[in-house]
Amino acid sequence: MFRTIEWMDDANNVRLVDQTKLPLKTEHLIISSHKRMAQAIKTMEIRGAPAIGAAAGMGMALAALESGASTKNELLEFLEHAADTLNTRPTAVNLTWATTRMLNVARAAEGDPNKIVQLLISEAKEIAEEDVRMCRDIGENALRYIKPDFTIQTICNAGSLATVHLGTVGAVVRVAHERYSGRIRVYAAETRPRQQGAKLTVFEMMEDNIDTTLITDGMIGTVFKEGRVDCCVVGADRILRTGHVTNKIGTYTMAITAKYHDIPFYVAAPMSTIDWDTDPENLVIEERNPDEIRVINGTPITVPTAKVYNPAFDTTPPELVTAIITDKGVVELPDEDKMRGLRDC
Ligand code: MRU
Repeated sequence: MFRTIEWMDDANNVRLVDQTKLPLKTEHLIISSHKRMAQAIKTMEIRGAPAIGAAAGMGMALAALESGASTKNELLEFLEHAADTLNTRPTAVNLTWATTRMLNVARAAEGDPNKIVQLLISEAKEIAEEDVRMCRDIGENALRYIKPDFTIQTICNAGSLATVHLGTVGAVVRVAHERYSGRIRVYAAETRPRQQGAKLTVFEMMEDNIDTTLITDGMIGTVFKEGRVDCCVVGADRILRTGHVTNKIGTYTMAITAKYHDIPFYVAAPMSTIDWDTDPENLVIEERNPDEIRVINGTPITVPTAKVYNPAFDTTPPELVTAIITDKGVVELPDEDKMRGLRDC
C-alpha cells in the first residue's frame, strides 16, 4: 500500500507518487519548491482532497525554507503569497484548510524565522500523520455498516492515493477486508473523464488483493438493479454544515440511483473535509480543461472543436445520504443540527 506523499528529512524536500503515470508506471517526483508543488496539485500529479491538503501543508513548509526571510514579518509575507500560489483547485476544502493552518502556526509563533521554519516543517509532517490516523478511525467507525461478504460500490479514487495512506473509502474497505478475512468486494466506477476509478482505485485495490470489478459510470443503474452491490461508499471534497456533500462528478447521479434502488449511500471523510462556513449556493465547482473530455490518453475521440462542459465535481443533497462517516463519529440522515452535534461532541 502506498504512502502517497512524504516529507524527506535528509534533503528537506517532498517525495510523492506521480498519479498521472499510474497504473502503467509507478514513478516518484521529488518536489523542492512551493511553486512546483502548486503545479503538481494543479496538474493532478497529486490529487484527492486529503492528499492535496497534505501537499499544500508541505508546500508551505517548502516556501518557508525558500523564503530566506530575516524577520517574522518577511516570512509571513512570503507565506501569504505561497498560500495563494498553492490554492490552485477551488473545490476541495482541504487545500485552504491546510494553508490556513500553516499560516496560523507561523502567525502565532515566537522567535527567529529559522525557528519558525522548523515549526512549519513539523506542522506539515503532523498534518500528514493526522491524516493516516483519521483514515484508520474512519475505517473503524464504518464497520457497523459493512458486513462480511458485502460488495461496496465506489466512484473516483478515495483510496490510499487520495490521502497520505490507507484512504477514506480505502480505509472502509481495507479495515473490513482485514476484519472479515478478505470477505469484501468492490465495484469501481471508471469515473470519466479522468478515469481515477479505472486507473487508481482498481490498481490499488488489486495491489492489496481486494476483489474489485471495474464498470463504466453508465452501468451503475444496471449493477444496482441486478442486486450486485450492498452499499455505496464515496469520499468527499467538501461537506457543508447542512450535510451537502461535494465529490467527484457522477456521485450525485449514483446517490439518486441508490435511493431509487434502496441501497444505502455512505460518505467517508475526515472532519477536516467539513466546511462549517460556506453556504450551498456559494460553493465553487472546479471546471477543468475541455480536452479532458475530447481526448482520451492522447487520442482525440470527438470533433476537436466540440463544445464541452466539464465540471469536476457535483453536490449531493443530504436527503440522499444515509450516513456521513468521519474519524470523530457518524451522522445518520444528516442535517444541520446533527452536523453541529458532531462538531460539538
Ligand atoms: O479530481 P480529484 O481526483 O482530486 O477528485 C477526487 C475525489 O473526488 C475524491 O473522491 C475526494 O477527493 C475524496 S478523496 C478521499
